Amino acid sequence: MIIALNNKSNLTKTEFITYQSELSKIKTTHQVIVCPSSLYLGLFNLKNIELGSQNVSSFTMGAHTGEIAAQQLISLNVKYCIVGHSERREKLKETDEQINQKIKLLLNNNIIPILCIGESATAKAEGKTLEIIQKQLQEATQDLSLEHREKIIFAYEPIWSIGTGNIPTPQEIVEVFTKIKESYPHNKVLYGGSANDTNIDTLKKVPEIDGYLLGGLSLQPKKLQSFLEKLEN
Ligand code: PGA
Repeated sequence: MIIALNNKSNLTKTEFITYQSELSKIKTTHQVIVCPSSLYLGLFNLKNIELGSQNVSSFTMGAHTGEIAAQQLISLNVKYCIVGHSERREKLKETDEQINQKIKLLLNNNIIPILCIGESATAKAEGKTLEIIQKQLQEATQDLSLEHREKIIFAYEPIWSIGTGNIPTPQEIVEVFTKIKESYPHNKVLYGGSANDTNIDTLKKVPEIDGYLLGGLSLQPKKLQSFLEKLEN
């Protein structure tokens, strides 16, 4: 399974160095990817874990103050990049068009996008989950070759579940994953949103899940180790 760690905008430099040495002790047969703050990408030195970014510019390298281009990420050996996280869609008004642009730049630079999709609490209450997810997937993957499209890792993250402790029922997850896999049978699909070392016992019974995108848990290496162990047993 793929376990992607989304540190979000957390950890000072000193804290990141300590965190990284704790991550170096993680033992698992799963593929773990850490996505630290962009500031620390150049400090990454782990052998047991791969490197991802939390974002990329929708522009190529050049006169775009404050932006980090895909060419710069690959020069730091970044192999994966989260795109379209709901926090960026909501707070920074990131559009599906920009997300599509980012995905193209990443794939052209041999970086695998981890595309986040998911519905709000309101959309869920209105029964619009599948419709929203399909629209997000279609717009984000527009004009890609099949070869490129199949490389993308999708992360289904219901917005109402992120950081709240609430997770969808296994039936709800199966319904969404089945729908995604109907249209995108070759893409890996992760689950994200309050996954932790307790509810993993429930989540791991859903065979459609190809891995997890972890926010809060990513910052707690001991609990992360216990999550990974439960996933193996
Ligand atoms: P969470 O975050 O695990 O803290 O809910 C997941 C995410 O936002 O990627």
